Amino acid sequence: MQRVQYDRHGGPEEMYIGEFALPEPGSGEVRVTVRAAAVNPLDWKLRQGVMKMLTGRRFPKAMGTDFAGVVEAVGGGVTDLVVGDEVFGTTDFRRSGAFAGAVIVSAANLAKKPAKLSFSEAACLPIPAMTAWVAVLDRAGIDAGSRIFINGCSGAVGAFAVQLAIAHGAHVSGSCGKASRESVKAAGIEAIFDYSDPDAYARDGNFDAIFDTLGTLGVGQGLTMLNPGGVFVDINVTPGRMLRGMFSRRYKLAFASMGLKHLPAIAHAAGEGQLRPSIGRYAPFTKVLSALAEAESGDRPAGRTVLTFPVPA
Ligand SMILES: NC(=O)c1ccc[n+]([C@@H]2O[C@H](COP(=O)([O-])OP(=O)(O)OC[C@H]3O[C@@H](n4cnc5c(N)ncnc54)[C@H](OP(=O)(O)O)[C@@H]3O)[C@@H](O)[C@H]2O)c1
Repeated sequence: MQRVQYDRHGGPEEMYIGEFALPEPGSGEVRVTVRAAAVNPLDWKLRQGVMKMLTGRRFPKAMGTDFAGVVEAVGGGVTDLVVGDEVFGTTDFRRSGAFAGAVIVSAANLAKKPAKLSFSEAACLPIPAMTAWVAVLDRAGIDAGSRIFINGCSGAVGAFAVQLAIAHGAHVSGSCGKASRESVKAAGIEAIFDYSDPDAYARDGNFDAIFDTLGTLGVGQGLTMLNPGGVFVDINVTPGRMLRGMFSRRYKLAFASMGLKHLPAIAHAAGEGQLRPSIGRYAPFTKVLSALAEAESGDRPAGRTVLTFPVPA
């Protein structure tokens, strides 16, 4: 079987297609035939070595986290999935391996694919939707009438955050690039700012929550835009911000992995049309290396890049 892997941390030139043999799934694990995999910034950040303290130095390392496919085999103790189930999910980031014909993951990392969604659409859900769910609902505690500002409301995480906040009755403002303005407006955002003009949205103020998906909003600036009792949620972590997040009640960090427990609810929300993935580009697995390099360079249309795999005979 083929997968995308690398033998040392570095740029796109380190990726190649390698042969590997997947073992049988262990206890609590499931082997899934991958039908579609979505490209997240996390995939190239892992390959660059941004998280090497957590991922270790054993190579080769496989790439790819979010995917959708069909259950091929289940390990002992897995009771809620059977061979043939259509599922979507995400790998443990320390293991990755979703840019491949098949992948082994814990059953807890999977949910049943909503029938209304294609494999490609379902593959776009896990990391961005889990992150948005944790940030907007768990960390910020958004509900009807809340005012939230989403810095970077046009990316995958930002767009799901907008959809969730609006579905829960919140008033949403946000920032994006000029080219994204029309699509963001159609999503129902009340006030849209260009993210190159932070002074403009800082003046808007009085928010119950700020969600920075880009990591470009200064923490001090974000805090001045909040009501007393409001919360600043950040997902782009630096060591300094990590420390601050541990001790502040008003500044909180959110991680995708905190949202694994929400995967079934995310499947339900997507099936009901509350979460709507946006796909910018489909690429067959034969073009995977160039598609990944282009996604990483920013030379891509808005929306997720999705890798597609042939239907097995
Ligand atoms: N803590 C966690 O667990 C966690 C989870 C998921 C994501 N993240 C991080 O959150 C960030 C957003 O993730 P995402 O999946 O939403 O990314 P994405 O879909 O690629 O969206 C990124 C958005 O950033 C804006 N942008 C601003 N400057 C840009 C530039 N120079 N190049 C490309 N886009 C630029 C773009 O908005 P316009 O198109 O409007 O310009 C784009 O829509 C990433 O840094 C990711 O690593 C963290």
